[in-house]
Amino acid sequence: MHGWLCETLDGAEALSWRELPTPEPGPGQVRIAIQAASLNFPDLLIVKGQYQFRPPLPFVPGSEFSGVVDAVGAGVQGLRVGQPVAAIGSSGGFATHAVIDALRVLPLPPGFDIAHGAAFAFTYGTSHHALLDRGQLAAGETVLVLGAAGGVGSAAVQIAKAAGARVIAAASSDEKCALCREIGADASINYTSQDLRAELKGLTDGRGPDIVYDPVGGSLAEPAFRSLAWRGRYLVVGFAEGSIPALPLNLPLLKGAALVGVFWGDFVRREPERNAAAMTQLAQWYAQGLVRPVIDNKWPMSELKAAYARMANRQVRGKLLLVNP
Ligand SMILES: NC(=O)c1ccc[n+]([C@@H]2O[C@H](COP(=O)([O-])OP(=O)(O)OC[C@H]3O[C@@H](n4cnc5c(N)ncnc54)[C@H](OP(=O)(O)O)[C@@H]3O)[C@@H](O)[C@H]2O)c1
Repeated sequence: MHGWLCETLDGAEALSWRELPTPEPGPGQVRIAIQAASLNFPDLLIVKGQYQFRPPLPFVPGSEFSGVVDAVGAGVQGLRVGQPVAAIGSSGGFATHAVIDALRVLPLPPGFDIAHGAAFAFTYGTSHHALLDRGQLAAGETVLVLGAAGGVGSAAVQIAKAAGARVIAAASSDEKCALCREIGADASINYTSQDLRAELKGLTDGRGPDIVYDPVGGSLAEPAFRSLAWRGRYLVVGFAEGSIPALPLNLPLLKGAALVGVFWGDFVRREPERNAAAMTQLAQWYAQGLVRPVIDNKWPMSELKAAYARMANRQVRGKLLLVNP
């Protein structure tokens, strides 16, 4: 097998494509022949030692991938060689093969594109948990999605629409805003060239959105919170902008509003049954065409460093896939 090896925490530029011993799956594990892997924001942080979890060096990064099972360890039930699957781990995906615990593998239902499998569970799982579970989104409510053309953002736009909400997508360029409207957003705001609060007022008759979905953080957070409607919910999803904003606590009081944390990884570990129910609903929505990963580009696995640069430069729209021949 081959894989991109991270031997020092010096970022993507220090990764090297190496021939590695093909690992055998132990008890409870499977080996996957990887067809596609996608880049998620934590992949940027993990190769710099800046993520909440630090795998021991050396390791192969890549948290989300899909392919077919090509070896099954002892005691594994329900997975067979040749089966199309998706997998989420903390590492291993930017390679030709990976061994992973069977519990972290999702069989892909018939009709589910294998490449889409590498661009689904992380972003759609996060946004479903955020909007419907933590945010208690109801049909007819208005949702503001920040960073709406990114991975979790584009999933949030589609999920909020599938749940019957009105969606205002906000992003940093007119091109990104146009993409958000193409995938279902009812309106968009370019927060580089437009005033977020003034535009939101105009789009909601002065009332404000019921939910703000925020994977960006930084300087957008406070104006977005100030725009919330009475009883609004502000979903803290991530800090892609790089800084963690602080909020005056009189603001939730004045709005009767809630500041709600979202941590999908721990939700999956702590509440696997609820996550399984969410995944079932997402698979149904996929089959009905209500949600569909937005694929930025499908590049060969050899282009991983360019893919990292594209994500760090805010150029990715939806999900960037790396594929094996
Ligand atoms: N809480 C959870 O459970 C959970 C789960 C998954 C992901 N996350 C977090 O969600 C965030 C987004 O993840 P993602 O995979 O969707 O990433 P992504 O595809 O790169 O999207 C992030 C978006 O943030 C915006 N952004 C603003 N400043 C940026 C900067 N300096 N660098 C990069 N992007 C910037 C960009 O949109 P504009 O250019 O339009 O501003 C970009 O589209 C990350 O912080 C990630 O860690 C959290």
